[in-house]
Amino acid sequence: MRAVIVGLGYVGLPLANAASRSGVDVVGLDLNLGTVDGLNAGRSHIDDLADTDIAALLATGFRATSDSTVIAKADIVVICVPTPLDDDGRPNLAAVIGATKTIAANLTKGTTVVLESTTYPGTTEEILKPLLEEGGLVCGTDFHLAFSPERIDPGNRVYDITNTPKVVGGVTQECSTKAAGFYSQFVAEVVTANGPREAETAKLLENTYRHVNIALVNEMAQFCFAMGIDIWDVIRLAKTKPFGFQSFSPSAGVGGHCIPIDPNYLAYKVRAELDRPFRFVELAEEINQGMPPYVSRRLQDLLNNHSKPVRGSTVLILGVTYKANISDRRESPSVPLAKKLLDLGCRLQYHDPYVEEWSVNGVRIDKVHELSAGLKNSDAAIVVQAHQEYIAQSDQFSATSTPVLDTTGKFSGPNVERL
Ligand SMILES: NC(=O)c1ccc[n+]([C@@H]2O[C@H](COP(=O)([O-])OP(=O)(O)OC[C@H]3O[C@@H](n4cnc5c(N)ncnc54)[C@H](O)[C@@H]3O)[C@@H](O)[C@H]2O)c1
Repeated sequence: MRAVIVGLGYVGLPLANAASRSGVDVVGLDLNLGTVDGLNAGRSHIDDLADTDIAALLATGFRATSDSTVIAKADIVVICVPTPLDDDGRPNLAAVIGATKTIAANLTKGTTVVLESTTYPGTTEEILKPLLEEGGLVCGTDFHLAFSPERIDPGNRVYDITNTPKVVGGVTQECSTKAAGFYSQFVAEVVTANGPREAETAKLLENTYRHVNIALVNEMAQFCFAMGIDIWDVIRLAKTKPFGFQSFSPSAGVGGHCIPIDPNYLAYKVRAELDRPFRFVELAEEINQGMPPYVSRRLQDLLNNHSKPVRGSTVLILGVTYKANISDRRESPSVPLAKKLLDLGCRLQYHDPYVEEWSVNGVRIDKVHELSAGLKNSDAAIVVQAHQEYIAQSDQFSATSTPVLDTTGKFSGPNVERL
């Protein structure tokens, strides 16, 4: 079987890796020449695969290319391109449409096309299918089409593509069977949906569920603090219930390419088709987007309690990625937090073992290389991500005389205040 994976990012590259290792002949197609050349030279650009993994991948026969004619020889083509929002917060399907047009121009009989990019219900049948049929081939007969949501969790050491069940929703039964046949070569469990719309919506339910529950604890964290209740202890207690409860943690805000973005895809479709708001998403968004300003207010109060003005104080941000132990900075809450602090007149510096350079509003923020020196030379610090390097140096937080606002609930000490 020959597979072409379109889009070699956080999703496409691990997929190419798993498929190639299982014996599938895989070619990776990407518009970004830097990515293509880097991979062919053995360099990884994502956290979950090291350069040694890319060397092993190349040894299986994998290669990256920007030449779309490889699609003509594929049995299966999987689309893993970004699905961001536009400036008005609406779905931006430009990459999906661009990739689909490229596939349509090279599509041959017998090929199966699968969309993995997160998107609103109806995209596979309403947008991909007509574009792919423009050349005269008929979906379900000449070629097959399915949606299979990506469930990758960067940095997760337990669950990867091979042991996370894969949902597949084909336009026809045969489409589902073809797509499931591909994935079952390297995924332990493939689950078939009634159709693409159910598979598309399942992904959005998963991400909206996280978004809403994170907002719930974020709002609780704010009023618990105001009422003198320790939210972290509340969560510790609640999660001892073995059924009916799943714990979520408050934070400085949600980040990454999924949680802050995907629920908007569902809200957009509900509004477009039914002219109704998706109230849970709107509320969750309002609360989660309010976290960076809330954290900045908490920092001002903390400085005030230490008789320091916020203007002119040196504030150290610890962890500027969107989650712990990875280098991905997309939609990181550290950015709106830093903007707020800069507006207030703080002098900012950051520490992050995963990020070499960091700019906010086009201004380069100074990097601190030593945690202990950074804490010592700051008026206050905010822990935004509890990277494993910080956990390993917890004693720095318990010993410091610098006031620390810990938004992760992982650190303690006489001068550490938790969210
Ligand atoms: N990153 C995650 O953790 C994650 C998890 C689940 C789902 N997803 C979803 O998966 C999709 C892909 O996300 P990602 O994080 O892998 O994105 P990414 O930005 O890491 O990678 C996308 C790649 O696609 C390439 N590309 C863009 N347009 C192209 C085109 N027309 N033809 C060929 N290549 C093209 C880009 O150059 C880039 O290398 C998104 O819909 C996202 O919502 C992401």
